[in-house]
This record gives sequence, C-alpha cells and structure tokens, in this order.
Amino acid sequence: MISKPIIDLLRSTYGLNWDGIHGASHWARVRVNGMMIAEDNGANQKVIELFAFFHDSMRENDNHDPRHGYRAAELVDSLTLEFLGINQREKFLLMTACRHHTDRLSETDDISVLTCWDSDALDLGRIGVMPSADRLHTRLARQEKFIQWCYEQS
Ligand SMILES: [Fe+2]
Repeated sequence: MISKPIIDLLRSTYGLNWDGIHGASHWARVRVNGMMIAEDNGANQKVIELFAFFHDSMRENDNHDPRHGYRAAELVDSLTLEFLGINQREKFLLMTACRHHTDRLSETDDISVLTCWDSDALDLGRIGVMPSADRLHTRLARQEKFIQWCYEQS
C-alpha cells in the first residue's frame, strides 16, 4: 500500500483538482488495472503502485502537458529509496515509466514499465476513449474482455 507520507506529499504537490480526471480516482483505477495485470505477468507491484500515484501528479493542466511525465520522474528522483520503500533498480524503472508514459520514447521491454503504461491506457474511458489493443503491450491488457471491463470501470 501507498504510505501516508506519500499521500500527504502528493496532496500538497498536486496542483489540479484532486477529484478531477487526472486526480486520485484515476490513480486508484490505474493501480487496480496494474495489480490485475501484474498478477498475470509477474510485473513489480511496488513499481506499478507508485507509478499509479506519481505519474500524473505533476500535471499543470488536464489537457496538453507533454512534460508532465518528465516532471513526475524528477519528483521521484528527489525522493529517497527509504521514503519510497523501493530499491535502486525499482526507482529506475519507476522513473522510466513516469518519464515516458505519454511519449513512449523509451525503447524498454521491461514488463513492469510496460504494465505501468498499459494500466494507465486502460483507464482512457474516463475521457470517453475506448483503449485499443494495438496500443497495449501486455498479454492480459490486450484481451478485448479485459479492455471492455476496464472501460466500464473508468
Ligand atoms: Fe494517467
């Protein structure tokens, strides 16, 4: 589970509406999607959970904000391993997942990073967009039934 100090940090850092389309309810959905995919593929649950809560935390608006993933990675970088509750390798994966979750400029084939990205994309229903299997990477996420289920939850 995400620790209270992390939630407190995000509450004080997040500059947009906590209940808005990129706020806490989206983060919670990304977490649920990610945990389900991780059960299927063994992706790192700590990385996914932290990604869910950090990836959109530095958004400056709810529309076009191409640098928000980079700022999220910088925020993660500024925090200690102890505070985050992860090791150096996990921090590297978390920063990669945050930095490139919108532009996908990393050539990574790491299953935990790809699971983070799929978990986020599967919540596109919050803006009325049905996720496309072509744009998803992991086995479970690409299944039409799962895509439909995530869409209905978002
Ligand atoms: Fe997101």
